[in-house]
Amino acid sequence: DSTTTTVTSNSLTSDPKTWLSSNLVSVTQISTSGLLLLFETAQSMRTLVRTVGGDSRLRHRVLASVFYEASTRTSCSFQAAMMRLGGTFLHVDGGAGGNTSASKKGESLEDTIRCLECYADVTVLRHPTTGSVQRVALGGGTVKPVINAGDGVGEHPTQALLDVFTIWDELGLSLDIEHGDSKNETKHAGQLVVVMLGDLKHGRTVHSLAKLLARSSIKHELVLRYCTPKTLEMPSHVKEYVDQFPNAKQEEYSDIREAVQGANVLYVTRVQKERFEDIKHYEDVKGAYVVDGTLMSCAPPGMIVMHPLPRVDEIHTEVDADPRACYFREMENGMFVRMALLSLVLLGSP
Ligand code: CP
Repeated sequence: DSTTTTVTSNSLTSDPKTWLSSNLVSVTQISTSGLLLLFETAQSMRTLVRTVGGDSRLRHRVLASVFYEASTRTSCSFQAAMMRLGGTFLHVDGGAGGNTSASKKGESLEDTIRCLECYADVTVLRHPTTGSVQRVALGGGTVKPVINAGDGVGEHPTQALLDVFTIWDELGLSLDIEHGDSKNETKHAGQLVVVMLGDLKHGRTVHSLAKLLARSSIKHELVLRYCTPKTLEMPSHVKEYVDQFPNAKQEEYSDIREAVQGANVLYVTRVQKERFEDIKHYEDVKGAYVVDGTLMSCAPPGMIVMHPLPRVDEIHTEVDADPRACYFREMENGMFVRMALLSLVLLGSP
């Protein structure tokens, strides 16, 4: 981990002005009340899109979409979010086949982002090096907001935001957390059992999601069940973070049929071939867990199935027609949550 800078916890609150011009590099920046503000804003964005398609609040604003790793959903949903609100975007493909980044000429990431800031109002950045987005956002001399779209095996905060929004939305969980940060709130509204399946070692989405679920486990008890091959376990730094929250429990499973008993959410991840140094190790573990019709037939009737996507073959397509499969709805929510985030960061208003 090359992170040498830190972020301020709970700095993004229910006061919209706290979001104005802020970077977003980690879910730990968002307070419980800030999460509620973002989700309420995302709900109104959904209504806006479904009624009139969008508005013009971000007219003449430009987003720099900078991706040094492949992306379909994160890049396109940020671009769509910007356009739905009247803004526009420029895209830099810094990946292996891309030809729009001067990193190939030896330019530093910091200089590239400082350059793009001259043309854009906000940067959305994905990079393969863990900690690189934090480094650029907090110590790279940037003056405009930088949003982390995934830094190696580190974090993917906007994915976690859309995931928790989806969980609350699909399960009808209460959005009525009191405004104001209720650190001492201990009232439980039941138990939320989330199974995380697959490659938890390399999955930045589950790293951010585990942290954000723990942070928001105020009115309910949270049980995180990690179901993974031995070599792809959740990193200890994530487990230690979750351990700080009294309402959050963590359990280890190897049998997926056992893990889903009594679960509310099955969060499936892809085994990330591109992160393995030894391809033989990938071949050994790639098919360890598969979600298919047989598994779904013994899963709880109310258990939703999520996946950040892309999938390879860890969820059979036969599951797609099951009403509990919500990964395509989850993806759509990504645009609403990112519209909300852009409005808060660029305008300081919901
Ligand atoms: N979920 C996600 O990050 O997808 P992309 O890699 O397509 O952006």
